Amino acid sequence: MGEYFIGIDLGGTSIKLGITDATGHLLHKDEMPTRPAEGAKAGMERMAAGARQLAESAGIAWGDVKGLGLGAPGFLDLAEGKILRLTNIPWENVPIRDGLQDLLGIPVVIDNDANVAALGEAWSGAGAGLTDMVLITLGTGVGGGVIAGGRLIHGAGGMAGEVGHIPVEPGGVPCGCGQQGCLETISSATGLVRLATAAVGAGRATPLKSDVEAGTITTRDIVNAAREGDPVALEVIDTAVDALARVMAILTLVNNPAAFVIGGGVSGAGETLFTPLRRAFGRHALPDVARGVQIIPAQLGNDAGMIGAAGLTAKGTMMG
Ligand code: BGC
Repeated sequence: MGEYFIGIDLGGTSIKLGITDATGHLLHKDEMPTRPAEGAKAGMERMAAGARQLAESAGIAWGDVKGLGLGAPGFLDLAEGKILRLTNIPWENVPIRDGLQDLLGIPVVIDNDANVAALGEAWSGAGAGLTDMVLITLGTGVGGGVIAGGRLIHGAGGMAGEVGHIPVEPGGVPCGCGQQGCLETISSATGLVRLATAAVGAGRATPLKSDVEAGTITTRDIVNAAREGDPVALEVIDTAVDALARVMAILTLVNNPAAFVIGGGVSGAGETLFTPLRRAFGRHALPDVARGVQIIPAQLGNDAGMIGAAGLTAKGTMMG
């Protein structure tokens, strides 16, 4: 007997499922491919089957699972529990909350993937104990979750915190959201690869040339080249952190967070990212407001989304 909560982190490549106790302690987790092309209905059915399987593998009776939360990477109608549009998965207008509820017979709550990662980090990660923090995830996309006064901010339309779509480059390259020059086009993993590819295309000499030409270049290659002192890789990272730091400087003036918690695959670059990011933030942010603002790595890694999503339905959490 007990109370357990399932969190699902829906991503472009994989679906991560985790089960927690009522304190946000992750007890068991699992992962399956998203297979976006199979469509939303098939995806939803696999998520529901995966959730039951997860409880079973953890030795937890389904009757003790009190709720399920789902984090999804894109634009949602929170009141209706619907996916409106996801930037990297072609599923549109999916009534996923009710669909999962019907399949599983337990309460389901949905929220944005970066919002739930922010909740996870605030519940039991790098932001534990902080009432004012902003989480920014740097992965395929750039996501954000804003916690202010101890609450996750949704705003009037439920889309507050979509920091990846803050426009930073007038007339810049098209973004998956339909706009141009969004932060995501520069500071995401995709943005870094694009910048490195453009540098090679412009004839710059760099050890990244062979990876670009083979079409295999990843952020890891860029980070490794930067660590070896390659000026092109260092410039690419500087461009990405400069745009990010400008956005952080603006956010600092909006809600004066105690910390920016940076997660997502790109944050795995460690000090190769954090040192220039802190320097750029120092350049752009208003000193009186920025003083004492910490810029720290997320602690829960890939587990943040699952843990935060589970927390969407757990009482006594920020959302419960
Ligand atoms: C989406 C966000 C999401 C982020 C990270 C962005 O493209 O608009 O909703 O949080 O990617 O997945």
